[in-house]
Amino acid sequence: MPEAGSAPVGVFDSGVGGLSVLAEIERLLPAESLLYVADAGHIPYGEKSPEFIRERCILVAEFFRAQGAKALVVACNTATVAAVADLRQRYPAWPIVGMEPAVKPAAAATRSGVVGVLATTGTLQSAKFAALLDRFASDVRVVTQPCPGLVELIETGDLHSDTLRELLSGYVAPLLAAGCDTIILGCTHYPFLKPMLATLLPPEVVLIDTGAAVARQLQRLLTQHDLLASGPAGQVQFWTSACPKSLRNILPKLWKNSESVRSFEM
Ligand code: DGL
Repeated sequence: MPEAGSAPVGVFDSGVGGLSVLAEIERLLPAESLLYVADAGHIPYGEKSPEFIRERCILVAEFFRAQGAKALVVACNTATVAAVADLRQRYPAWPIVGMEPAVKPAAAATRSGVVGVLATTGTLQSAKFAALLDRFASDVRVVTQPCPGLVELIETGDLHSDTLRELLSGYVAPLLAAGCDTIILGCTHYPFLKPMLATLLPPEVVLIDTGAAVARQLQRLLTQHDLLASGPAGQVQFWTSACPKSLRNILPKLWKNSESVRSFEM
């Protein structure tokens, strides 16, 4: 019988955003085999209802369980606020890592006392995000900015166009005007915009995302459950609920190479 630790970890997002988290997981835990689902047939989660997102998350979770996944990473802030509580209730013995905008580290890092949050409409409107602000941001001013349209552009592999620049500069302008010196990237798609953000923001503005913290939390949970893989580098496999060819085309840009991509039909 194979050791429990050799089973894969399931990681998913509405699309390619979770690849920014997958990269951190692979860097920290190279022996883990990883299964990645991009639910790209249903982007953007950020503009969908929490009920719809919960249904999608359960389908993906069931798929990973059928594949024998030993743990689940919800590599999406929007899906976490909508569904992680339900997922944990449904699968109480399954290690599940969710993610949320890094309000606590940002509140600790700001010198101007003003923190900006770029995230999806769904994340910013959620009760979970409001609770996060109550808990960690009482001493700072937080300026939130929903960013409709960014995810759709990133999903096409667009990280550099003038259209993207115009949209993004419109989203960061109010944060800069408010005096933010720390900006939370509260959606897993946005770390891919760091090169463009570097051209739009003054150099003293600090960007904070949670990919590395999620990888560390996964490491902690796997260790606690005695499920860490050991041995040679694990395999990474990809599925998408949109056209596999589009993910195959984008992977070399956002991941290392174009690995095999299968269709996720649910
Ligand atoms: N990447 C997702 C997140 O972290 C959201 C993208 C979407 O709106 O589909 O919130």
